[in-house]
Formats: sequence, structure tokens, C-alpha cells
Amino acid sequence: MRRWMSGAFLWLVLAGAGLAQDENQPQRIVLSWERDPATSQSVSWRTVRQLDNAAGQVVRVKGWARTFEDSARTVKARSAKIKTQTGAAYTHYSVRFDGLEPGVRYAYRVGCEEHWSEWNLFRTAGADSEAFSFFYLGDVQNDIRSEVAPLLRAMYADAPQSRFIVFAGDLVNRGMEDANWAEFFEAFGPIVRMTPLIAAPGNHDTNKEMLDDRGNRRVDPLYLAHFAFPQDGPDAEHFKETAYTLDYQCVRIIVLNSNAYNDERQVRWLESVLVAPRKPWTIVLFHHPVYSTGSERDNKELRATLAPLFEKYGVDLVLQGHDHYYGRTGKILQERIVAADAAAPVYAVSISGPKMYKQNKTFTHLMRRMIGETQLYQILTLSPQHLTYVCKSLDGEVKDGFTLLKQAQGTVLVEKPLPSVGCYCPER
Ligand SMILES: [Fe+2]
Repeated sequence: MRRWMSGAFLWLVLAGAGLAQDENQPQRIVLSWERDPATSQSVSWRTVRQLDNAAGQVVRVKGWARTFEDSARTVKARSAKIKTQTGAAYTHYSVRFDGLEPGVRYAYRVGCEEHWSEWNLFRTAGADSEAFSFFYLGDVQNDIRSEVAPLLRAMYADAPQSRFIVFAGDLVNRGMEDANWAEFFEAFGPIVRMTPLIAAPGNHDTNKEMLDDRGNRRVDPLYLAHFAFPQDGPDAEHFKETAYTLDYQCVRIIVLNSNAYNDERQVRWLESVLVAPRKPWTIVLFHHPVYSTGSERDNKELRATLAPLFEKYGVDLVLQGHDHYYGRTGKILQERIVAADAAAPVYAVSISGPKMYKQNKTFTHLMRRMIGETQLYQILTLSPQHLTYVCKSLDGEVKDGFTLLKQAQGTVLVEKPLPSVGCYCPER
């Protein structure tokens, strides 16, 4: 008994020493962008203990990793302390590396003396003329560790050169619960340390006890603490990092906070972005679908507010989530399918997590493909002349796809044959 107790005591001492070290170690490291992806890169992470000298280091990759430490540039991090629902406090950090060269591979690490992360890699955006791919995920949300992790590994193995991941909201089931985010980061592992994330907030990412000045639920502070997104959105505090734009090579991605779809400030801002000079392609990303695929759902007001703007200003593609049932339309104008060469948007709703809903038959006449009870990921490949969209299931089977070809007068939607190649990126 005494022997057992002394063994247990030793274990506690060692575990305590290990814990003390972990309190300084960076956790939940994730890449995102606040500024131009060709010349900047942001990184976020957290520690248990507050560290005043936290920083990021960045270096252009050359032949020998041993040289990284001596030639890296150090940038001081900004920090914010967050108390979670359980009462535990963490310090969240972000650092932005500016002045980078376009189209180049960099190594980075975050932390501070004695407590650096491993070196990770990212690549800056290149010339607009270069083809590239990215991932699109629907709601991840539920059982992320046990049931979404396999999909993420299938997705990454399929097209590791993809340059970023777009999320159509509901990243977790309860945005205010730290345990949900623990699952999220465990499931994504090193993928988000190398592949930046662009996210639109869903309803599950909000806090029902925090309302904005229009009575809409605000995105939970814990969601916001984990990422660093652009702050060029509508002029109101609650849109900060929840509605924004990012230009990556030949595409402009417009992210909306559809929890506040009825806020006239976001509608005005969206129109101002659509009127401004744009890239060859325009993709809009948000959570609640214009044409619902999940049973007993119909976002009439949202449709009446947003669809006319997408149609008027030539949005090419709208990526959404929320309905837990896959659907992808043809080109739509005023709630009708139009010709493949008409100037009109295509809409997609995807689902990546395991929670599934029943089919909504209201809009089947607009849908080219509907898929139920299947976890899906999408790989989009763009060049100034073409946009290819491939939707795949966990087993790697192509379930849907199309190509938009640029022509002198707009685009042509090509649906046959089904594109099977996911990624054309030469390197990452
Ligand atoms: Fe949702």
C-alpha cells in the first residue's frame, strides 16, 4: 500500500511538472488572413498561462530547416484573456506577418523562449493568372472528434495542395463551450496549421444571451477569440470579423453574417462591395440558404433581401450550410432556372458533419443534385477562365460537380461530363 502511494505521489509530481510546462505551450494554432493573402499571413493560438512576450517568427523556406531560427523575423503578438463557461481562463494570441513575398513558401512558429511551437509551413498567394484549389465545408458542428475527423483526413489526402478552407458556418455545436472547440482543433490537427481558414458564422456559433442593437444573436466571443479575420465589414461592432471580404488570386470571397441578414447596414455594405471593381470570380459565403434543402425550412426574407443583389451584380457562386442536406442548383434568376449561359448565380448547400435532416421538396425544381445522409467535402479549382466544383463523399466518390467557363459575355455552366479531377495546383 505504502509502495503504491509513493508511486502515485511520484506520478502526481511528474504530472504536475508536465502540466506546468503545458501551461506555456501554444495550443489551437490556426492560420487565417486579416489582409492580402499575397503579402500577409495571420496566426492565432492560445496558452493556459498569460505570456507577455508571446510572438510569432517567420522565415522564407530555404534548403535547411536548421537555419530557420537564425534568420527568422520576430513579430510581437497581441493578446486577449478569455474566461470560458467552466470558469477556466486562457490567453488567446494573434500575430500578423506583413511584407511577405507573393507565391513563396514560408515557415513559422509561435510562442516564446523555451515554449515555441513546431515550425509549420504556409504559402503566400501568387499571381492572379495561376490556377489554385480550395476546400468548401458545410456544417461540421457535431461529433467532430469521432465523426468529422475521418472526413477531414480524406479531404486533405485528396488535395493537399489546396490553399485554404472555407466554412459555411456552424463550426461547432455550441460556440460558447470550450469543449466543442477542443474537439474542433483536435479533429483538424495540423491541417489548419498549414491551410488557412475562412469562416462565416452559423447560428450555433452565436450566443442566445448576447443580442446586437437589432435584436439578432451575436457571434460568441469564444468563436472570435480563436481566429483573426479581416475587419473591412459593415460599420457595427458585431460585424467585426463576421462579415468581410478576401481577395485570393482571381477570386473575391465575400463573407456574410446571415444571423443578421436583416440588418440594413450589412445589406448596404454588401452592395458597396459588389459595385466596386472586382476579381474575375465572385463567391459569396454564408450560413442560412437562399433556397433551403432541409425539410420545413424556408428563409423567405433572406431570399428577398440577398438574391436580387446577387443577380444584379453578377455573383458567380453562393456557398451555404445550415440545412444538413446537400443541394446544388443550376443558374437561377428570380427563382427560376435559366439558360446555362445566362448571367445568374449558382447556389450550393453542403453538409460535412454527421447530423442529417430530411429533404425539403419546395425547391427541387431548382436543384440539379440533392444528396441526403452523406458527409461531403468540396474541392473548387479556379483560374481566371474556369471554376471547377467537385463534391465528394467520405469514400472519395464524386457525387456532384460542374464547371463555369468564362466567356466574353459572362459564364457558361457545364454539368456533363461530371468533373472528376479535384485539384490542379502545381505545388504548395
Ligand atoms: Fe445552422
